[in-house]
Amino acid sequence: MTAFKVATVAVKPFAGQKPGTSGLRKRVPEFQQENYTENFIQAVLDGGLGAKKAGATLVVGGDGRYLLPQAINVIIKIAAANGVKKLIIGKDGILSTPAVSNLIRKRHTSGGIILTASHNPGGPKNDFGIKFNCENGGPAPDQTTDAIYAITTQIASYKLCPELNVDFGAIGKDSFEIEGVGQFEVEVIDSVADYLELMSEIFDFTQIKDFITGKATGQKFNLLVDSMHGVTGPYISTLLVDILGADASSLSRTVPKPDFGGGHPDPNLTYAKDLVDTLKQGQLDFGAAFDGDGDRNMILGKNGFFVTPSDSLAVIAANLEAIPYFRKNGVHGFARSMPTAAAVDRVAKAVGKRCFEVPTGWKYFGNLMDAGLLSLCGEESFGTGSDHIREKDGIWALLAWLQILAVKKQSVEQIIKEHWQKYGRNVFTRYDYENVDAGGANLMMKFLEPQLPGYIGKTVSANGVEFKVAAADNFEYRDPVDQSIAKNQGLRIIFEDGSRLIFRLSGTGSAGATVRLYVESVYEPSVGLDKLFAPSEDLLRPLVLVALDLSKLQQFTGRNEPTVIT
Ligand code: G6P
Ligand code: ZN
Repeated sequence: MTAFKVATVAVKPFAGQKPGTSGLRKRVPEFQQENYTENFIQAVLDGGLGAKKAGATLVVGGDGRYLLPQAINVIIKIAAANGVKKLIIGKDGILSTPAVSNLIRKRHTSGGIILTASHNPGGPKNDFGIKFNCENGGPAPDQTTDAIYAITTQIASYKLCPELNVDFGAIGKDSFEIEGVGQFEVEVIDSVADYLELMSEIFDFTQIKDFITGKATGQKFNLLVDSMHGVTGPYISTLLVDILGADASSLSRTVPKPDFGGGHPDPNLTYAKDLVDTLKQGQLDFGAAFDGDGDRNMILGKNGFFVTPSDSLAVIAANLEAIPYFRKNGVHGFARSMPTAAAVDRVAKAVGKRCFEVPTGWKYFGNLMDAGLLSLCGEESFGTGSDHIREKDGIWALLAWLQILAVKKQSVEQIIKEHWQKYGRNVFTRYDYENVDAGGANLMMKFLEPQLPGYIGKTVSANGVEFKVAAADNFEYRDPVDQSIAKNQGLRIIFEDGSRLIFRLSGTGSAGATVRLYVESVYEPSVGLDKLFAPSEDLLRPLVLVALDLSKLQQFTGRNEPTVIT
């Protein structure tokens, strides 16, 4: 066997290769610049693995978006030249984000590289992304992404094997001799098998199957699951149809496409509108959608009844005994990201468990899980998951709901309304102002922050409703495990009844700035059913008006309306 040569390419650093909330996300043409992707991959290997680089094994895969095969080729050539021992790659490069997290843990690798821009659109003019996950299977913490970024600002060269071309379109193992380095191995694996095996260990598939097919109830359960042409198609078709007995008509948009069929693969009321409209016709019992890389989920009941992610988390928390995994492993604690409505906090209080509040970003849950403090967590941004892996998990959330429905034998709407009657309702909305001028967005935050202390104790009002401010600050988090501090995580105004307004700049955009306004209004069960069950827009209107007035958001952004409301 002839050995593959290693070349060293002299380069200059590119500005702006700073990983955000979830890895480096840029438009495709930016990644296509000569050496741009190569520089970043070299920095990921050095900054992410450090001394463990030589001899490391990494999992590599992504959501099928445009540029995925090219990026994997670059990773293969650079990893081999850098002494990485082995890459485990999903067939055709396809792996969902939860599947990568599972493989890192199951195969005890040094980490993984996920090629995705999650829910952002794909295609030659849209977004691509590269994210490094650590050996616990979770997104790299701030110290690691800071180290990667520092390398990108000083990089002078990268190493690669220019002639090494590996076919990752067929399952199997191959080994290559790298000159002066040693053996390099590539194992191409089935993209779905390990993940589905994990799900079968967590849930009671027989019970879910009997529920879906009607064996348990005498009535078929009609559902529609929208993969939005993202990575979940191959997983969900095997799972739902072959294993759980659902009709093939329960599946929608299951073929992963490089441009997601021209859509925006984000499961919310705006971008999964077709699913919502179909559910509104009233024939189906249940709907779900996932994002491009399969970690986000949206849950809908009959007639398009929308379950907010914050409520979804709380309902799962309140019904964990339905799921075998939690019966077996116990429940260590709950957590949510700061802007997520505090519905789960009420459940935690009722069952006497701890509930953590972390900054936006799944990476902040990982330490708590590794320390055995956290079993179930979620975010308002349509993320729900548990300590079975270290990423949020869309298909897991669907299965959690199906298991709960199979046990409770009630409609989604009944379950949610009973939950509100028991625990109270944390009504929530998020307004996104996407791709606004970064200058205006920053000015708004700079305008608002110094005023916050002055609001404490004051009363503000809109539409005749008064709110007394109990606290106001810029959220700062101290990780209870490693004591690391994350500053500047969002401006909060908290009212006496627990209602909240939060202003944040997104960390996942690829161009301009995105302002997020989060509004949460708290209703205790005692307000009466009329109020408790009223449409969320009505219940939230006064606080939205207060938020717009206090922040002068419309003036600073030049936008009268948000781009997306969830
Ligand atoms: C990704 C992360 C989430 C985060 C979301 C929104 O999905 O994995 O943890 O909540 O992005 O982040 P952003 O900074 O855009 O609000
Ligand atoms: Zn995602």
